[in-house]
Amino acid sequence: MSFTVGIVGAGPAGLLLGRLLHRAGIDSVVFENRDRDYVEQRQRAGILEQGTVNTLRAAGAADRLDRLGIPHDGIDLVYDGAAHRVDFVELTGARVWIYAQTEVVKDLIALRLADDLPLLFEAEVQSITLDPPMIHYRHDGQPHTFSCDYIVGCDGFHGVTRDLVPAPVLSRSFPYSWLGILVDAPPVHHELVYAHSRHGFALASMRSPTISRLYLQVPNGTTPDTWPDDRIWSELTTRLTPHTPNEGRITAKSVLPMRASVRQSMQQGPLFLAGDAAHIVPPTGAKGLNLAAHDVTVLAEAFTHLSQTGSPELLDAYTETCLRRIWRAQHFSNTMTTMLHISPDQTEFETQLQLSHLHHTTTSPPTTQSLAENYTGTTPL
Ligand code: DHB
Repeated sequence: MSFTVGIVGAGPAGLLLGRLLHRAGIDSVVFENRDRDYVEQRQRAGILEQGTVNTLRAAGAADRLDRLGIPHDGIDLVYDGAAHRVDFVELTGARVWIYAQTEVVKDLIALRLADDLPLLFEAEVQSITLDPPMIHYRHDGQPHTFSCDYIVGCDGFHGVTRDLVPAPVLSRSFPYSWLGILVDAPPVHHELVYAHSRHGFALASMRSPTISRLYLQVPNGTTPDTWPDDRIWSELTTRLTPHTPNEGRITAKSVLPMRASVRQSMQQGPLFLAGDAAHIVPPTGAKGLNLAAHDVTVLAEAFTHLSQTGSPELLDAYTETCLRRIWRAQHFSNTMTTMLHISPDQTEFETQLQLSHLHHTTTSPPTTQSLAENYTGTTPL
């Protein structure tokens, strides 16, 4: 069976889906309202689960990842001023990779253009009709219409496709945000550091042996200009103790909101949602890209099954297949978030509960293993 898929959004979900469909002999066109530069520079998280790496390898999209990605076998959890290592490989046999989302996006764009496949930047999708499936967009100052058999919304939490799926959305907000910085300096530690502190959460990550990525919990409504560099270094030094940040030139500074949201259905007739268009996790644990990669892997398999057998059975089951992993990731991201952040009105009772939770997580082997399984994405589903 032959059909064409219109993909809205050239982030990791849309681009990876396009790649997987191409490998299965299925035609697609990718529409992106931003320009290539914007899409390639957008700063997002940098942790890939083993399963995401396997998918990228199977898709022939891991050459740079295999050269530049940094395998990590564990993390440090810091609380009460002491560090406690969680060894993923010992507990689960799996590891994770440090490789920035923005690099995944660059790799997938380069492959799509090298294959001469349609990818339209600055194509502003204005409306979508489902019966029949059509994408109405503006490109080069002109209105256009693209007719296809299926549409996949990979256009994120602020995109145009998500509201076309009329299902309830379950969500929660958090009373804090993250200030994220990129720094020209070696990482704080050879592995990631997640720190609970009475001053608020801090996370020390990295992009390469010479570039650090660091985050600080800040109040909602914070603007980056209220955080001059010396305030940032002072807070990082306090919160990351016993680790010490390496100071360097700060090359990017931005505030990230935190929220959790799941649309209870990810499909409506010929329209399917994938990645942030369907669900958002708080960033603690870096599940967003990994969930998006899982969604589009399931979707690509379902389209492949349709093209080979004519049966829509896997497409029909798409939401149900994805939701189990999505809710596992929500539970994990919410648990990490609430275990590590200090709420504005937090009582000492709640702080002691967090410290007990952290102690239990780092001293009870089954509980440590549960964190390791969730972090590496290897929990049985
Ligand atoms: C990064 C972001 C996260 O939210 C996280 O949990 C780990 C790492 C990062 O940007 O490197």
